[in-house]
Amino acid sequence: MTFVVTSACIDVKDAACVGECPVDCIYEGDRKLYIHPGECIDCGACETACPVEAIMNAKLVPAAEIEFIADEERFFHTVLPGRNTPVGDPGGAGRLGPVRADTPFVAGYGR
Ligand code: F3S
Ligand code: F3S
Repeated sequence: MTFVVTSACIDVKDAACVGECPVDCIYEGDRKLYIHPGECIDCGACETACPVEAIMNAKLVPAAEIEFIADEERFFHTVLPGRNTPVGDPGGAGRLGPVRADTPFVAGYGR
């Protein structure tokens, strides 16, 4: 399992987590950030950095937030609205830059 960015990040995007990740696997979407499930090495450094406690170990995500586990996967491996190809496995968020899109789940969350 991996670490997951949950609802508290939406429209907050504090970004303190980004600088803590040793493998640069926290990617910027439009309304929130997303952890790449295949690139995360489960170190936990990002979890304590987030001031709104949005980042959780996937094994400990409460029921109300459980959809965010599958949604991190969708961000990378489905074609997001407004894009032609999946984000895929870029191997580093800094290399890719902001994605400027969200999954439909996050785009519509709370609206
Ligand atoms: Fe979001 Fe927290 Fe990072 S608000 S951008 S998960 S520091
Ligand atoms: Fe990165 Fe470690 Fe978090 S690999 S996403 S800082 S758990």
